Amino acid sequence: MTRKVGVIGLGHVGTAIANYLLVTGAVDELVLVDTNELKVNAEATDFEDAAANLNWHSKVVVNDFAALADADVVVSSVGAISLQNDDAKHDRFVELKFTSQAAKEVGTHLKEVGFNGVLVSITNPCDVITALYQRFTGLPTDQVIGTGTLLDSARMKKAVGQALDIDPRSVTGYNLGEHGNSQFTAWSQVRALGHSLPELAETEGLDLDELAEVSRAGGYTVFHGKHYTNYGVASAAVRLINVILNDANAELPVSNWNEKYQTYLSYPAVVGNNGVVQQLKLNLTDEEEQQLAQSANYIKTRFDDVYA
Ligand code: LAC
Repeated sequence: MTRKVGVIGLGHVGTAIANYLLVTGAVDELVLVDTNELKVNAEATDFEDAAANLNWHSKVVVNDFAALADADVVVSSVGAISLQNDDAKHDRFVELKFTSQAAKEVGTHLKEVGFNGVLVSITNPCDVITALYQRFTGLPTDQVIGTGTLLDSARMKKAVGQALDIDPRSVTGYNLGEHGNSQFTAWSQVRALGHSLPELAETEGLDLDELAEVSRAGGYTVFHGKHYTNYGVASAAVRLINVILNDANAELPVSNWNEKYQTYLSYPAVVGNNGVVQQLKLNLTDEEEQQLAQSANYIKTRFDDVYA
């Protein structure tokens, strides 16, 4: 069976994802879509120039929406350069005006061609744009997923891993809620070295607020030095894409539809070939439940503002 993935938006993030998928042989066919014809063709040519020296064969197709009809996964990495505005850099919502319009156009196009795979959205503000994609494509909610706090959770694991001098993959747990300023680390769920983090905080003298801040502000930290972020989020997207392509039924903290709050937000779900298979039921503390509700309300309000 051919594994086909579409990448829409060939900026810093889209190209990092495309490169990763090609270099690791994760796809048989890659469809690249961007409004900048010159740029997307140049990226495709550059990828084709790599082909003879890679270990796997893949086909690269450019700007063909019809070719997305039978794609397994389509990734939205459309973004706005407005994040380079220094005043705006601490809020992902500065991109909303541009990206909500893009989501409408792309989502409508995907619906027209009859795309029925899984849509993975990275585009910021992640949770609101993921919700817009679901509306515009008309896909079942299970088939539309945002990378959400999979990235923020990775940043949290990095911070905890560095504090304890262990591999970030030896840390389990999640940041929940918005991929944005109202997110939080659900410390009651985080474990390392056989203990919960609240326990380790006592014995190892860790400052959990400080560690949570590393992940909450992580995007801005990178942005400050290079004016965009790409590798961190591209890795999160690729992990999610591979889970879908492999029908792995893996548990991931991604942005998915939440019945209770009637919004998209990051909460761990089991993901397979058709998207979300089931959502977990965490035993959060009362304070964490409150933080989740606040984050959910924020996302929902911002969605209602833009989707009148
Ligand atoms: C970040 C962007 C993707 O946090 O929102 O790196």
